[in-house]
Amino acid sequence: MNAKIYMAACMKGGCAKTVTTYNLAYSLNELGKKVLCVDFDSQANLSTCFGVEDTAEVPVTIGHLMMAQIEDEELPAPEEYIMSRKGVDFISSSMVLSAVDAKLRLEMGAEKMLSSILEPLRDRYDAIIIDTAPTLGALNINALAAADEVIITVNPQLLAMMGLQDFIKTVKKIKARVNDKLSVAGILLTMCDARTNLCKVITEQVCDTFEGQIRIFDSRIPNTVKVGESVYYSEPLIEYAPECNASKAYQNLAKELIAYES
Ligand SMILES: Nc1ncnc2c1ncn2[C@@H]1O[C@H](COP(=O)(O)OP(=O)(O)OP(=O)(O)O)[C@@H](O)[C@H]1O
Ligand SMILES: [Mg+2]
Repeated sequence: MNAKIYMAACMKGGCAKTVTTYNLAYSLNELGKKVLCVDFDSQANLSTCFGVEDTAEVPVTIGHLMMAQIEDEELPAPEEYIMSRKGVDFISSSMVLSAVDAKLRLEMGAEKMLSSILEPLRDRYDAIIIDTAPTLGALNINALAAADEVIITVNPQLLAMMGLQDFIKTVKKIKARVNDKLSVAGILLTMCDARTNLCKVITEQVCDTFEGQIRIFDSRIPNTVKVGESVYYSEPLIEYAPECNASKAYQNLAKELIAYES
C-alpha cells in the first residue's frame, strides 16, 4: 500500500469539510480501501463523529504528535494513537492542537511536521484524509505540505467564491516552495439545495470560473437533515441512511476519486 494523502479544505467555516472527510472515508472503505482519517482541527468535530466523547481523555492526539515532532522527540508507536471505528482508522484531535498552532508560529522551517508524522503511515493505508480548520495558519500550511491532493469543499449558499481564488493561490505557492507533489483533486459542491436559485447561480459561477482549470466533481452533495442526524448519532451516512441522496453522492465521490487515480 502507498496511501494517497488528501486534505479536505476550505477557508470558510461550515462548508462540510468534516462531514466530507468522515463520509468519504467510509465510502472508500466500502470500496475495499483501507483509510486513515486525521482530525487536524482543534475543534475536534471529526473526533466527535468517530464517537470520541471527551477528547481531553485521549492520551495521544495529533496535537501531542505534533508537539513531539517539533521537539524532535521520538513518536510513540502507531498502536498508541491510531484508533478505529467500524473499519476506518482515525487520529483524534483535542485542544492541544491549538497550543501547537501558537508554537508553530515561533518555529522556523516547521512546515513539514505533519508530513513527517504521516509519511511512515503511508504503507499501511490506501488513503489518508486530513480534516482541517477554516483558517490559513501554520497548521494548514503543514496540512498542505503533507498532502498529495486537496479536496476543496464549497457550500454554494455561503458566498462561495470569496476566498477561493486566494486559497488556490496559496496551494500553488506551497507547491512551488514546499511540496511539489501537491495538486487540487477538485472542487466538491456540498450542501446543495437544487430547489434554490442561489444554489444554481453559484454552482454555475464556480463551474464557469474554474472550467478547464480545476476539476469540479460530478458528485454534488445535496442538503439533507440526515447528515446532521448521522453526525449526532456518530454514524456514517452509509450506515445511518444508506439510501439517502447524500449517502449516494458520497459513494459516487469515492468512485470518482478512485477512477481519477487509475
Ligand atoms: N449535505 C448536508 N446537508 C445538511 N447539512 C449538512 C450537510 N453537510 C454538512 N452539514 C451540516 O453543516 C454543518 C457544517 O458541516 P461541517 O462541520 O462538516 O463543516 P466544516 O466545513 O467542517 O466546518 P468547520 O469549518 O467549522 O470545521 C454541520 O452542522 C453539518 O451537520
Ligand atoms: Mg470541520
